[in-house]
Amino acid sequence: MKKVTFVSMIIALVITAFTVGSCKKSDKTTPAPMPTLYDSLGGTAMVPDPSNAGQMIEKGRLLIRNIIDSTIFVIAGDTALNGHFTTLLAEVGSGNLTGFEALSKNLTDFVAVGTGAKDYTYGGKSMVAAHDPAQNSRMNGKADNSDFNAFEVDLFAGAGKAGVPSTTPALISVGKIVESLRTQVVQQ
Ligand code: HEM
Repeated sequence: MKKVTFVSMIIALVITAFTVGSCKKSDKTTPAPMPTLYDSLGGTAMVPDPSNAGQMIEKGRLLIRNIIDSTIFVIAGDTALNGHFTTLLAEVGSGNLTGFEALSKNLTDFVAVGTGAKDYTYGGKSMVAAHDPAQNSRMNGKADNSDFNAFEVDLFAGAGKAGVPSTTPALISVGKIVESLRTQVVQQ
C-alpha cells in the first residue's frame, strides 16, 4: 500500500513539473489582442466604399459613417434639436455640402477612434469646444439635458435606418460611450 502511495506521489510530481513547464513555454507566445468595440462594428476588413467608386473602406468605419449620416438626417428633421444646427441646415438647403461632409468625417473619426479604431485620428474640436457657441459659431445655442436626450433618441433612430437595430450589443455599448460625454456637451 505504502509503495502504491509513493508511486502515486512520483506520478503527481512528474505531471506537475510537466504542467508548469508547458505553462512557462506558453508564456513566451504573444497573447491575441482583445477584440475592440470597433471590431464588433465591422473592424478593419476592407470593403468597397459605396460612396466612392473604386475606393475601399474599413467595414467598421463604413458602418459608423452610415449610422452618423443617417443620424444627421434624423436630427435635421427633428424640431426638438434642429434649431442648434441652423448653419448646417442653411448650407445644405442651398446645396452646399461642405459643412455636412466635414461634420460627417469628424463625427465618424470621433466614434471610430472612441470605439478602438487604430487607423484614424480625430482632428476636430474637443467635445467642450465643439458644443460651446463661443468657441464654435456653428453651434446655435448651448445644449441642455433634453437636447442631449433627443440626440440619443435620434442616434438610435439613425442606427435603425442604417440597418442596426437598437438591441444590437455593439450599439448599446456606443450608446454608453455617448452617455459618458453628456457633461461635456451639456453646458447649461
Ligand atoms: C455625445 C454626444 C455628441 C457627440 C459625440 C458630438 C460630437 C460632435 C462632433 C465630433 C462635432 C464636430 C466638431 C468639429 O468639427 O470640430 C460636433 C459638432 C456639433 N454638435 Fe455635437 N455631439 C454630440 C451631441 C450634440 C448635441 C446634443 C447637440 C445639440 C444640442 C450637438 C450639436 C452640435 C452642433 C450644432 C455641431 C456643429 C455642427 C456643424 O458643424 O455645423 N451635438 N458634435
